[in-house]
Amino acid sequence: MVALEYDTLSGVMHRRRSVRRYSRETISEALLDKLLKAAQLAPSAGNLQARDFIVVRDPNMKHTLAEAAYGQFFVAMAPVVLVGCANIARSRIAYGQRAELYAIQDVTIAASYIQLAAEALGVATCWIGAFDEKRVSSSLQIPIDIRPILMLPVGYAEEAPEPTVRMGLSRFTHQELWSS
Ligand SMILES: Cc1cc2nc3c(=O)[nH]c(=O)nc-3n(C[C@H](O)[C@H](O)[C@H](O)COP(=O)(O)O)c2cc1C
Repeated sequence: MVALEYDTLSGVMHRRRSVRRYSRETISEALLDKLLKAAQLAPSAGNLQARDFIVVRDPNMKHTLAEAAYGQFFVAMAPVVLVGCANIARSRIAYGQRAELYAIQDVTIAASYIQLAAEALGVATCWIGAFDEKRVSSSLQIPIDIRPILMLPVGYAEEAPEPTVRMGLSRFTHQELWSS
């Protein structure tokens, strides 16, 4: 049973790709709900869940986000764009100097959960980290102490990208010490 579950998870992880072309088909509320529930299940520092997601469906706003992402206009093609934010204010309730670092980790792991849930549900995403943060914050009226960290366009894939290359385990694994 355990091995079977791993095979399923491994299949999802292997199949996931960054997809940059989406069909016009909409994303249902039920599916979106599942994605957000996946984010809800992610671990977080002190269980403070210092991450928020803004669900953007408005075409004009999606266009603004694509512009803010330095002209990555495929972002606007997706029916839904999730903007993942680090809620530093919430993290600060328990953490001082490390609040920002933890909030960023909270939103990134939640986004990873969303990406895998999306793959399992047959929808595609692409992590967008390159954007003008100030422009995204002002466009979405994000308060000070909350930082937009990533965007996830979500849609049905209209391309099937080849897997991207990964470095071998020995290149990024160190035994006991960095130097070995
Ligand atoms: C932190 C981060 C930032 C990224 N930013 C962008 C981006 O701005 N635009 C984009 O098209 N892809 C972006 N990606 C997706 C990567 O290009 C992609 O994950 C990588 O090439 C591996 O391909 P794969 O996701 O298909 O396995 C980003 C991924 C991460 C994790």
